[in-house]
Order: sequence, then structure tokens, then C-alpha cells
Amino acid sequence: MAEKIILTGDRPTGRLHVGHYVGSLRERVRLQNSGEFDKVYIMIADAQALTDNAEHPEKVRKNIIEVALDYLACGLDPAKTTIFVQSMVPQLTELTFYYMNLVTVSRVQRNPTVKTEIKMRNFEASIPVGFFVYPISQAADITAFRATTVPVGEDQMPMLEQCKEIVHKFNSVYGETLTMPEIALPGNDACMRLPGIDGKAKMSKSLGNCIYLSDSPAEVKKKIMSMYTDPDHIRVEDPGKIEGNCVFTYLDAFCRPEHFAKYLPDYQSLDELKAHYQRGGLGDVKVKKFLNKVLEEELEPIRERRHMWEQRIPEVYEILRKGSEVAAAAAAATLHDVRAAMRINYFEDEELMHQPYEPQH
Ligand code: TRP
Repeated sequence: MAEKIILTGDRPTGRLHVGHYVGSLRERVRLQNSGEFDKVYIMIADAQALTDNAEHPEKVRKNIIEVALDYLACGLDPAKTTIFVQSMVPQLTELTFYYMNLVTVSRVQRNPTVKTEIKMRNFEASIPVGFFVYPISQAADITAFRATTVPVGEDQMPMLEQCKEIVHKFNSVYGETLTMPEIALPGNDACMRLPGIDGKAKMSKSLGNCIYLSDSPAEVKKKIMSMYTDPDHIRVEDPGKIEGNCVFTYLDAFCRPEHFAKYLPDYQSLDELKAHYQRGGLGDVKVKKFLNKVLEEELEPIRERRHMWEQRIPEVYEILRKGSEVAAAAAAATLHDVRAAMRINYFEDEELMHQPYEPQH
């Protein structure tokens, strides 16, 4: 049977938040512990982060350790998972260079994620070439490890599509060499699109609407208490709306049936709680307090593990260094196959080197 391999990662541009957690991190830890996978690679994508932070390498440099701490805090285990730094695996850049020839400029321009990001960063007039080609480098990341499964958020779907096209193209031009990956998306809509605490579509550092995995219990509580709910739900008796109501979206992402018996025994299920809110007679504060308990149950062990690793920073760097060595060896093996398939492995080709000379016309 073919090996089952996971590759995924994050850009180190800030601490990770609960959106990252329900969108991908929680699933990675589950997959890591499922025993279903032969190898798990998790990458800190510093080279990709530089594609739109070229002038702020210090920001990327500082956040490598933050992301590594968040990974370890969530339960990624270096004994089971190879955690590594992208730029420490130079084979990835070489692969990118060859893949660039298999993709057209107009194809990258049509990539919806690239389009949105260009707008968001006001790059319209002057797109850095490196930024423009990052979907191609992402295909290199995935294929270098022969990943079969890529657990990511929904926003990464266009990247996976682009990667699959590159794999298909490469294999049809040079012969079956690369492994076709599959995306693994989070289980429900709330996990896929966890909004910021202000109800805006996405959590983002610049909007100041994130709950970070490293936030203290007091910070988490304060943020939950200020969460956007239903602006028309003014008095407790008023009927309330669930749609677009952050507190309920977060409950969709985090709440499990057993939480009711433990923290809110008047209700049996989230559906029952929602129904009461919609009828009227259920106040925001009560729901928020419940959410705070549910969230704390998940965040408390993460926070504790993070504090533990924060005391052991040199060890964390050592994990990354070793992981990067392992990753580089795996990528080198794939690159070797790629070069052979492309017939650019000249010095391995005895026949080529010992052929009698014949002039080319
Ligand atoms: N683009 C991802 C992000 O923004 C990071 C990333 C880089 C990645 N290379 C990858 C994710 C390969 C999955 C597979 O977070």
C-alpha cells in the first residue's frame, strides 16, 4: 500500500488564534494521533511569509518561535510529527523553479486567494514576483514530501487546486513521478469560517478581533464578554437571532453535548439553547458565560503546555533544527526523482557521459 503522508503549515507572521485551531490545528493533532498516517510534516512557512514581508524579516524571524510554541502547545508531538522551517529546506526552492515552467501567468492571476490577497495588501500596482508565484512554491512544499493529505482551511482550496494541476502537468510531461494530494477540510462551517469577535468575516491581527491560543483566561473572558451578538436583542425577553451571532458560531465550533451536563444543565443540547434564544427569554451574558467555560476547557491545557515549552526555548529550536534535517532529506529524495524524470540528472547518466560525440544540428 502506498504511504499516507500529511503536509501542512502556517506562515509565521503572528501568534496563532482559535480560528487556526478549529480551522486546522485541532484536526492535525487528531490525525497525528490517529495512527493512520505513515508520516506527518508540519512546516513553518517563513519563505512564504517573506513574499509579502520582504521588508520586515524581523517580524518573520520573531514569529517562528511563536508558531512553534503554539504547535507544541496544541499537542503536536515531535516524536510523531516532523516540525520544520521552510527556508531550511532549500530543495523546495529548486522544485518551485521547475514547476514555474508548468504554470501560466494568467492561471496564477485567476487564483481566487491570490486575487483577494493582492487587493488586501494594495499590491494592485506593484505585485512582488515572489508573492505572485507563492501558489507554485506551495505546490513544491506539498509534493516534495509526497503528501497524500493536506489539512488546511477553506481559503487554501485554490492552492490545492493549483497544486493538483501542477502534479497532473508534471506527470503527463515527464512521466508518473509526483503524488496527487487531497485536501482535508474541517468538519463544519463554523470551523471553516470562524469569525472575529466583532463578527467580521475573518480573524485578523490588524482588526484586533482575535482570541489567541496564548491569551490569558482574563483576556479570553474579556473578549468573549465583548463579542458581537444580535444588535436587536436588547432586552432578555426579546427574540434573538442565531445567524451571524458570534457567540453561537463559536459554540458551533467548540461545544460538545457533554458540556451541557457539566456547565449548563438546564439544557440538553445546543439546538435547545438556540431555540430558547430565538424564542426570547435568554440573555447574552448567560450564553457568553457558557461559551467561556467551554472555550476554557479547550484552551487551559494548551496554555499550560505553552508555558512549559516557553521555559525550554533552546529545546524548541533544537526540535526545529532536527525536523528541518529530516525534512530536507525527504525533499532531496523527491528532487532526485524529479531531476531524473526531467532528464537533467546529467552526471548520474553514464550512458550520456560515455557516448561518442556527435554534433547537434
Ligand atoms: N499558505 C499557508 C498559510 O497561509 C501556509 C502554507 C505554505 C501551506 N505552504 C503550505 C499550507 C503547504 C499547506 C501546504 O497559512
